[in-house]
Amino acid sequence: MSTEKKLLVVLGATGYQGGSVVRTLLHSPTYHIRAITRNPTSPSAQALASAGAELYTADLHSTISLTNAFSGAATIYLVTNFFDDLSTTHKEIEQGKRALDIAAKLPTLEHLIWSALPSITDVSGGKYRNVVHFDSKAVVTQYLKTKKDLWAKSTVLWIAPYFQLWEQMRTIFGPVRVVGEDGVERFVIKKSAGPGMKMPWVDVEETGMVVRAILCKGRDLGGKVVAMVGEENVGEATKFKEWGEFVKRPAEYRQITKEAQVKYLESLGLPPFLVTDMSEHLAAFEEFQGKVYHGPEVIQASEILPEGEKLKDWKEYLHTADWEPILQK
Ligand SMILES: NC(=O)c1ccc[n+]([C@@H]2O[C@H](COP(=O)([O-])OP(=O)(O)OC[C@H]3O[C@@H](n4cnc5c(N)ncnc54)[C@H](OP(=O)(O)O)[C@@H]3O)[C@@H](O)[C@H]2O)c1
Repeated sequence: MSTEKKLLVVLGATGYQGGSVVRTLLHSPTYHIRAITRNPTSPSAQALASAGAELYTADLHSTISLTNAFSGAATIYLVTNFFDDLSTTHKEIEQGKRALDIAAKLPTLEHLIWSALPSITDVSGGKYRNVVHFDSKAVVTQYLKTKKDLWAKSTVLWIAPYFQLWEQMRTIFGPVRVVGEDGVERFVIKKSAGPGMKMPWVDVEETGMVVRAILCKGRDLGGKVVAMVGEENVGEATKFKEWGEFVKRPAEYRQITKEAQVKYLESLGLPPFLVTDMSEHLAAFEEFQGKVYHGPEVIQASEILPEGEKLKDWKEYLHTADWEPILQK
């Protein structure tokens, strides 16, 4: 490792968020990237290594491995993966707290970026209390705030739903290919949300760009929340129609009842708590839309991005994304 560069440790480096951080900052003159993975031989880990990242094997469940991985870090990008282990709802909280406990003791640490989400229980005034994959990250954020020294050098990053969810969680969010009785193949999205519902989608591949902006601001963003949130400018049905036109395939948005949606989620074999989580998640977004990510203390990514950089909107994403993986499966 170069002695002149600061060590940036990236969790989730083989995933969407962390991968973007690695790809964006890999050739930065300031940082040496340590990409964390549990499996350094996986194709995605090997791709990072080929690009020049240092691979480091660690697991968010293992204190020893994380302590070693964080050693010497000036900066940490911390993301937990709620969906990795669905045997209990508490794993993510344990992982987050474990990582923060270790980070708090690091003498070299200058900046921690914690990828969290707001509490839907709070946003909804207690109406939706079961969106665990949001609320558990908010619990970890509260824990972070109790560690005063660490909190002063931490920035919380809230990332809105990714456009890439169509691929990442296709059966829940994305277009499903169906062949009708007429023998015609079409792509269908089934949701209880009305066709006019607007979502603040983002291109998760821009996480690195936002993280770079946060790092440039440095301590000014200590103890602050930054939201990476897109424009809610296109309703869901219109978005899907435009997609169908672009990829030249029949695309149909079907609104279903809330009960039908629960049945559909159950049919995917999700554990009952996740069926409730996802149902309330969709309901909360229909009711509150992008307001989920706003608040007096929340800084929007657009306020910190340098001139010439902005988050993609749907039209830009539509025209630049690779749709083949969705069309081929
Ligand atoms: N999808 C969305 O729209 C959205 C929006 C905002 C926030 N989020 C949150 O984003 C998180 C997931 O991030 P992502 O989408 O970037 O992930 P992803 O692409 O699904 O990849 C998961 C990453 O987590 C790593 N990982 C999983 N379990 C781990 C463990 N025990 N120890 C160390 N690393 C572990 C994996 O690394 P290896 O397999 O290489 O070890 C991989 O890099 C979730 O918590 C989700 O709630 C998602």
